[in-house]
Amino acid sequence: MSRIAYVNGRYVAHHAAMVSIEDRGYQFGDGVYEVVPIYRSTFIDADLHLARLARSLRELEIPAPMGDAALRSVLMMVARRNRVRDGIVYLQITRGVARRDHAFPARIIPSMVVTARPGPPMPTDIDGWAGGAITVPDIRWGRCDIKSVNLLPNVLAKQAARRAGVYEAILIGPADQVMEGSSTNVWIVDHDGVLRTRRLDHHILPGCTRAALAGLLAENTISFREDGFDLATLKRAREVFLTSATSLVKPITTIDGQPIGNGAVGTITAQLFGLFAAHARAQAEQEAA
Ligand SMILES: Cc1ncc(COP(=O)(O)O)c(C=O)c1O
Repeated sequence: MSRIAYVNGRYVAHHAAMVSIEDRGYQFGDGVYEVVPIYRSTFIDADLHLARLARSLRELEIPAPMGDAALRSVLMMVARRNRVRDGIVYLQITRGVARRDHAFPARIIPSMVVTARPGPPMPTDIDGWAGGAITVPDIRWGRCDIKSVNLLPNVLAKQAARRAGVYEAILIGPADQVMEGSSTNVWIVDHDGVLRTRRLDHHILPGCTRAALAGLLAENTISFREDGFDLATLKRAREVFLTSATSLVKPITTIDGQPIGNGAVGTITAQLFGLFAAHARAQAEQEAA
């Protein structure tokens, strides 16, 4: 089956989909994106992803190319036409095509591209889902809360992880503070048994999976702290896990080659994986009903 992409109002064969060489996304990284997970043909936490997209656009003063309802139907159409049951839909909106000049063009016609691709189904074996991480310095800019396509530091960090044979690179900021992963948020159960993740500010992405999990924790009266913690606290933690649209709740059992806790998936991580999987299942069942 051939893949289909949406490009500026048209559904085209993926291999023939093209944007201009003067697109500002290509020239300046002047654009934003979203990755919405698809589970059993249902978008998971779509409202959170679309709200974050709207915020990213607002922060960068890029006009939205269409309203929310139209956007949802494009995403759905691309997912359907690519027959994605489990996977992701990728959406990118840039400040459009203009003669190259750093400042915004006088008239902005945003470019929008949507693709979809299948991915693995929800894992059933939590031990098999566990992975390792390395730590690397955070060399990114001061507005990491905007989901911009400027991802070079993240690309370099992920490549370092790939070379080290592990899943993720955790970014370490000033004063040894743990920021987030190159494409994930970081959570720990610290050495005192407290569930913690870094507070939100301009220095990390407000993950939609993080937000969904925070909601599930509140519903289940499981307390957690949103504050800072440093590299030493990370390495002394009983449990470490990551969250993202594609990582879900991902146990991390080694960091920089050293085991976390006893080196096995922790009980709280396993419990939260179960809560998130049930949350995704419930959305798929509601959609199917
Ligand atoms: C830097 C960064 N942090 C965190 C996340 C997790 O966000 P989400 O849960 O919305 O996928 C991502 C996702 O791509 C990311 O790129």
